[in-house]
Amino acid sequence: MKQKPLKGTVSVPGDKSISHRALIFSTLLEGICEVKNCSQAVDCESTAECLSALGVRIDRERERGAVTKNVTVHGQGLASLKRPSTTLFAGNSGTTIRLLSGLLAGQPFDSVLDGDKSIRKRPMQRVTKPLAEMGASIEFLSTGNGHDSGEKLPVTGYAPYSIRGGNLTGRSFDLAVASAQVETAILLAGLQADGATTVNLPAPVRDHTRRMFQYLSVPLVHADERTLSVKRLTTPPKAKRIDVPADMSSAAFFMVAACLVEGSDLLLKDVGMNPGRLLALEVLKSMGAAISIENPRSFGLEPVADIRVKHEGRLKGASIGGAEIARGIDEIPILALAGALCQGEFTVSGAEELRHKESDRLEMITDNLKAAGADLEARQDGFVIRGQASLAGGSQWKTHEDHRLAMTGLIANLICQEKLDIEETDSIKISYPTFAMDLAYLTD
Ligand code: S3P
Repeated sequence: MKQKPLKGTVSVPGDKSISHRALIFSTLLEGICEVKNCSQAVDCESTAECLSALGVRIDRERERGAVTKNVTVHGQGLASLKRPSTTLFAGNSGTTIRLLSGLLAGQPFDSVLDGDKSIRKRPMQRVTKPLAEMGASIEFLSTGNGHDSGEKLPVTGYAPYSIRGGNLTGRSFDLAVASAQVETAILLAGLQADGATTVNLPAPVRDHTRRMFQYLSVPLVHADERTLSVKRLTTPPKAKRIDVPADMSSAAFFMVAACLVEGSDLLLKDVGMNPGRLLALEVLKSMGAAISIENPRSFGLEPVADIRVKHEGRLKGASIGGAEIARGIDEIPILALAGALCQGEFTVSGAEELRHKESDRLEMITDNLKAAGADLEARQDGFVIRGQASLAGGSQWKTHEDHRLAMTGLIANLICQEKLDIEETDSIKISYPTFAMDLAYLTD
């Protein structure tokens, strides 16, 4: 198949992690909070809908019938949240269910949190346990066999669960997993607790929460690379406009594609350059990719830049593992594709956390790449790939309705000799609804 280079300029959608936080943190504030370039992904809609069910007024600008990227949240402080009359449905979004758990842990009413079949398989005790230790009452709700997939799975530790907020007491937590979601959930509870609440992380992660708290004047007791500490928020800070950078995790798909397809020359605009999100960019550069950072600036306290990527021959091998994995956890599937075509060996270790994402992403990516002809050895915590000059393709590409697997499949299709049979691409709307359109524009 003739490969089509990626050429031109693209602004990928607003950052999903920052959009969730912008919507949720607006409820801490007093006044009208404009969120510009908010992600229109289904995951962020799940957050907005849950907040609406909690009585938060959220307005979306409309243009010719469609919602735009500008969202207005009417913040009235945490005391204004109301008991929801329905189950709070997080859909596919781990960030929604975990962050809202922290928010609700301090609220004096009952709510029930649930999500789709993928959410129901993801571990929730990492947030519910610390929140219960702070004083929230959390109960896992049995749903017959627990899961609508028909599989027998333990019901304790998985959605759905109910939360009744309590009088919380601040505590110090040493997290076993380097998770920004867990950190943020605990801190949202900490803003409603007596005394200080401290989260110590085993490795640095995306620090959007610290940056947004500081930007919004939410007082911090302590902040460094691995520790964040807050106390009760007694007065809601004044609402402020939040500008959301483009999503590095979405940009990574086009970055890898441009590195792999001869003749590519791509400019990605306004991409968030949070230090906790830079692994993919750093790894590609270490593999010899021609990537340059242009026009560095900031949106609020988030660093932003334009990223130029040009194809420049085959990439070299790389080895990633340990603490750095957390800084690129969502990009490992697409990096694996770069690894499959490198000149040398591409190794990932210490990435077991990938088994607890929207799907078991280690199993999915290794199975798919092997089926497509990659020389790959799967391991419990990662994989080793001996790179090849080309990938045969012509195989089935499973997604398990995981958006990042589906997008990796579409990029793999650009370089495989024979077209892949991709299980589905509808899941892509979870993070990047216009992905196929942007890809078509860049490869036109
Ligand atoms: C996110 C943190 C990461 C990431 C997820 C979004 C966030 O999860 O995988 O897509 O917004 O905080 P963990 O913190 O659980 O690793």
